[in-house]
Amino acid sequence: MSKSKTAQRKAEHIKLCLADDVQYKTKTNGLDKYDFEHFAITEIEIDKIDISTKFFGRKISYPFLISCMTGGTKEAERINEKLAIAARELNIPIGVGSQRQALEDKKYHSTYRVIRRNAGRVPVLGNIGAAQVAKSKNIISEISLLVDLIEADAMVVHVNPLQELLQPEGEPDFKGLLKSLSMITKKISVPVIVKEVGSGISKRAAKLLLEAGVKGIDVAGAGGTSWAAVELMRKKESNDYFREWGLPTSYCIRTVQKLKKDFDFTLIASGGIMNGVDIAKSIALGADLAASARPLLQEVTKNDVACVVNLVTDWFETVKNIMYLTGSQRLNDLKQNKLKRKEELI
Ligand SMILES: Cc1cc2nc3c(=O)[nH]c(=O)nc-3n(C[C@H](O)[C@H](O)[C@H](O)COP(=O)(O)O)c2cc1C
Repeated sequence: MSKSKTAQRKAEHIKLCLADDVQYKTKTNGLDKYDFEHFAITEIEIDKIDISTKFFGRKISYPFLISCMTGGTKEAERINEKLAIAARELNIPIGVGSQRQALEDKKYHSTYRVIRRNAGRVPVLGNIGAAQVAKSKNIISEISLLVDLIEADAMVVHVNPLQELLQPEGEPDFKGLLKSLSMITKKISVPVIVKEVGSGISKRAAKLLLEAGVKGIDVAGAGGTSWAAVELMRKKESNDYFREWGLPTSYCIRTVQKLKKDFDFTLIASGGIMNGVDIAKSIALGADLAASARPLLQEVTKNDVACVVNLVTDWFETVKNIMYLTGSQRLNDLKQNKLKRKEELI
């Protein structure tokens, strides 16, 4: 049986993200513009540093999650299985890729279910796109089906206007999105998180989302995977301006965290998070947890589950070393003015 168009697109996304240069070229995640203030009289005992935290009421071992990536195509099943095992071993949340394909037919349901089957009881996040949320007449029953399919603990809605604009089969039309989100957040059984896919969420956008009842914002800023690059490659076109479009991850965290004084929400830093230094800086800027997508996809396909587990564990050894050197016993202590813009450190 031939693949559906959606399944084909998902397969192309995986292939391009593994084989080609789809990283931002001129823009960074912005975190490189900061550094920590060294604390020479630290009395922190490294072994006593506790980096476990809570995610929507559930205890997790690291302030980190595996971002939503794939599902809905044959290639996704093995990837999702391995990422889910890694999430279980690390005791961290994991997201599935867009579940839109699961609404089209049941052929690829196993590519999503495999996550819950292997992730044990760690938080699993469902995923659907803003275009579907804005236009569907049955969005509540559709989301309920998707939540049940993977026993999701939260539902992620991805907002991706740049990707929709450049994607050959894209639907750049989110009319009615906020109204639909306001209804969804009242009616579905799990919290709603909204994420970008690499162009970032501004404070203005985040405020409207929080007013609509959203409980988590994943900024997914610029500096890592450029979805414009991916879609332009699929069309065999180039456009240097839109390829580099988007708000750096650091800018999004620094500005969106200001809304914490008025709203109770979980702030996730993602978009170009590639090591423990990026994670520590994100938390210092105000994020509750960090997340990565493509670096983990590359690790799990090139190497194996154990390598993903080792990679994340190593990243958090770096986080602990930074906590020691900055005199931070708890994750929250990292947020106490420990990070400086580099131009201040001269
Ligand atoms: C192969 C692949 C597929 C993705 N598919 C989805 C998706 O279906 N839904 C979604 O919300 N984000 C998706 N993303 C976006 C990521 O979750 C993330 O926001 C983005 O890649 C930026 O993070 P990074 O720089 O760590 O890769 C995908 C990413 C990759 C690499």
